[in-house]
Amino acid sequence: MKINILTLFPDMFTPLKTSMLGRGLEDGKWELNLVNFRKFTTDVHHHVDDSPYGGGAGMVLQVMPIKKALDSLPSKGKVIITAPQGATFNQKKAQEWSKEKELTFICGHYEGFDQRVYDLADEAVSIGDYVLTGGELPTMSMIDATVRLIPGILGNTVSPVEESFSHGLLEYPQYTRPEDFEGKKVPEILTSGNHQKIDRWRHKEALKATYLYRPDMLKNYNLNTEEKKMLEE
Ligand code: ADE
Repeated sequence: MKINILTLFPDMFTPLKTSMLGRGLEDGKWELNLVNFRKFTTDVHHHVDDSPYGGGAGMVLQVMPIKKALDSLPSKGKVIITAPQGATFNQKKAQEWSKEKELTFICGHYEGFDQRVYDLADEAVSIGDYVLTGGELPTMSMIDATVRLIPGILGNTVSPVEESFSHGLLEYPQYTRPEDFEGKKVPEILTSGNHQKIDRWRHKEALKATYLYRPDMLKNYNLNTEEKKMLEE
């Protein structure tokens, strides 16, 4: 997959070049192309923003440098703009995007976009109901969630199939050594060797965690008779 990012701060994306995503870049499993759209300005001071028509505080990012930066790309794939007013990003979206050949993100900074910038994108996406100073951190979060789903990125020891949200439930609790930590013991069932019982326990714990912490997720989840019983245990 190739990912293009239009930003005023290309240096902010260094974290994507470390750890598992960094290894994936080195191995050619995905490609990152950072484009500073300030380079596409034509005035001497390289302004990318201007005051809003109709007055008011703050500045507005202009459409022209962003349009020119987009047009400079040989291909764009799906174009995504990051903004608090977009649809909320989730695991389903990450799964969908992980199958794309190319993605292009447009990141604003400090200020809003001229409304016509939205027309250059296929979708506007937010990472939650709070406002950040720019689209760089949201873009990095969304890229991390998406790229880790590309086969070969996580290696074969980690399975994105069993994790939170992929089955509409939160993840079940996990334990590793020591078996007893300051009196807090690993649930006995996990050391029983009975895999059928372990699977059932894990599913029950995933259901319980979802019921406790994210009951909203259960609205879209059809509980079967056995699962209803599990929640009552
Ligand atoms: N830019 C500023 N805040 C944002 C948010 N919550 N999501 C996506 N982009 C943003």
